[in-house]
Amino acid sequence: MLSRIEALDRLRTQPRTRLANLPTPLVPLPRLGRALNASRLWAKMDAETGFALGGNKVRKLEYVLAPPMLDGITCLVTAGGPQSNHCRVTAAFAARHGLRCILVTNRGPEGDPTGNALLHRLFGAEIVLIEDRSERPSRMESVTQELLAAGETPLVLPIGASTPLGCLGYASAAIELCNQIDVLNDGCTETVVFSASSSGGTLAGLILGLALVQRTDIRLFGVSADEPADELDAVCRTLARDAAADLLGTTIDPEIVPFESIDDQVGDGYGIPTTASREATELFGRQAGIVLDPTYTSKAAAALIAHLRGDGIPDHQRCVFLHTGGAPGLLA
Ligand SMILES: Cc1ncc(COP(=O)(O)O)c(C=O)c1O
Repeated sequence: MLSRIEALDRLRTQPRTRLANLPTPLVPLPRLGRALNASRLWAKMDAETGFALGGNKVRKLEYVLAPPMLDGITCLVTAGGPQSNHCRVTAAFAARHGLRCILVTNRGPEGDPTGNALLHRLFGAEIVLIEDRSERPSRMESVTQELLAAGETPLVLPIGASTPLGCLGYASAAIELCNQIDVLNDGCTETVVFSASSSGGTLAGLILGLALVQRTDIRLFGVSADEPADELDAVCRTLARDAAADLLGTTIDPEIVPFESIDDQVGDGYGIPTTASREATELFGRQAGIVLDPTYTSKAAAALIAHLRGDGIPDHQRCVFLHTGGAPGLLA
């Protein structure tokens, strides 16, 4: 078993395809902070990872689509909703690298595709429509078999790229964030981070990174877009453990990282705005010039707002909104 230092070294030297503009900025939001009575409010702008309109998936794909993974591959296959950000970035990667891309996506609303659905097609992906999300695994499997029979060599990316490899993108992001907050010199000794969470890879990666550098001064809140909090919690911790063991040759104790999943912003369900998420979208737009999406970031921001209005932030704390992207969804 490797030591923590050796595991960190393995993380640093892990093969990756550079896609993201890193580090993403950590920006102060004083005006929004004043509106929320919170003077030390920041946004970590992963919406600005850049590639194909950015967002959190770009960091994950750097590892999931690293050169060794692509050896001999002719086609990428993945799945998601009609407004999937993961499908968008995967399709753009395929276009950039001259690969075929098959996206298994649920049927969207009638009419011309908009937002991410438009971008999926713009990047040249072949779309396989399904009626219900429960069909995704079986349809991905049948598509893969058809591709193999046709002489292609497909690489299947699980939904959201929330695999141990994908987590490494956010393990690195956690270290990047630590480096940024360590030079703030604002007198705070604790950081509270709010992020949207769905397939769990983003939070799992953050947990992994923080456990590796043994940071217990950063408290993570994963705001669910759909799943019950206890299930998401278990997924994140398991994924973090698996990534450490399978890829970095070490064991971590995810319990040392203060982490909680929250599911009280889901409302009527995945992708359905709530009063609080609409208010968050307006506040972030008007007071910070930040674009939130209806499915993920507006609900994470709503949780952050509820937290600030409820408890406020004590003097020793700063609050960071991890902006995971998704803006095309607002324009759908
Ligand atoms: C914009 C955005 N934010 C957050 C998430 C959630 O990330 P994860 O699936 O890693 O939990 C997603 C995932 O689809 C996303 O597209």
